[in-house]
Amino acid sequence: MKTSHEPVLLNEVVDALNLHPDAFVIDGTVDGGGHAEKILERISPQGKLLGLDLDPELLSDCRERLRKFPNVILRQGNYANLPEVLAAEKLPKADALLLDLGFSSGQLDGSGRGFAFNADEPLTMTYSPEAEPAFQVLARMREKEIAEMIKELGEERYAIKIARAIYSRERRAIIRTTGELAETIRSAAPGNYEHGRLNPATRTFQALRIYVNDELGNLRRLLGNLPAILAPGGRAAIISFHSLEDRIVKHSFRDMAKAGILRVLTKKPVEAGEEETAFNPRARSAKLRAAQLL
Ligand SMILES: C[S@@+](CC[C@H](N)C(=O)[O-])C[C@H]1O[C@@H](n2cnc3c(N)ncnc32)[C@H](O)[C@@H]1O
Repeated sequence: MKTSHEPVLLNEVVDALNLHPDAFVIDGTVDGGGHAEKILERISPQGKLLGLDLDPELLSDCRERLRKFPNVILRQGNYANLPEVLAAEKLPKADALLLDLGFSSGQLDGSGRGFAFNADEPLTMTYSPEAEPAFQVLARMREKEIAEMIKELGEERYAIKIARAIYSRERRAIIRTTGELAETIRSAAPGNYEHGRLNPATRTFQALRIYVNDELGNLRRLLGNLPAILAPGGRAAIISFHSLEDRIVKHSFRDMAKAGILRVLTKKPVEAGEEETAFNPRARSAKLRAAQLL
């Protein structure tokens, strides 16, 4: 069953974006429209929201949810290509940009695309139907490449052992489902992996998802494109869910601040309070950073 996605740090995002009634706002990861709806309630009908998502399935739910707002443009697309999207849509640079990174609850539970290791599904893991599915990526990689991917993108201590198990299984028959991959990882991980507190498949699944969707590459491209996306004085708010993403945002904001391109608005990342994490466990790892283009 599909779960609807609970937007994180909702009020904090709206505050960080400092929306005026006529603002043109881009939600680069619009998903089901949780944040977008709140943003639209804040701007007037003279304002506008462009919502982008790589996943066309989510966009139809979003369209339904935002039906009551006349000033919404929803497109399937990659936020890394925003300058091209703005040009194609004949839209100006924006006053505000939101990115809420990673996957949505709708993709995790019930998309059938293998984002979760506890449901046995085809090992696809792609947000966009155009991307190469995870099972093909794994089948063509060499053992060393698998190990590097798991180590770098999953920060997995047992990357070499897990990569060896995956590679040798791939030689017998292609791993096609999440169940087969989770089982292969379990067979290679120590019995007391993280003292039983974390499923041994967690970090490898994260690594594969980030790799398949080029999540870090897209984020770097977006950050490099900020001056082509935002108008002077425009604000960017970016929510990340793991240290790899947060580090990229932090360093990129810092470098652009030094170069006089923007001003960092969050010395430390904004995190969810106890009240929010109590009802939305996903908010526990959320970190919001914001900046203003000069
Ligand atoms: C955490 S969800 C966003 C949730 C949304 N803010 C809400 O409150 O409903 C992240 C979304 O980003 C999308 N996504 C991931 N990478 C993307 C990219 N490069 N370009 C556009 N969308 C992307 C995913 O398909 C997913 O729907």
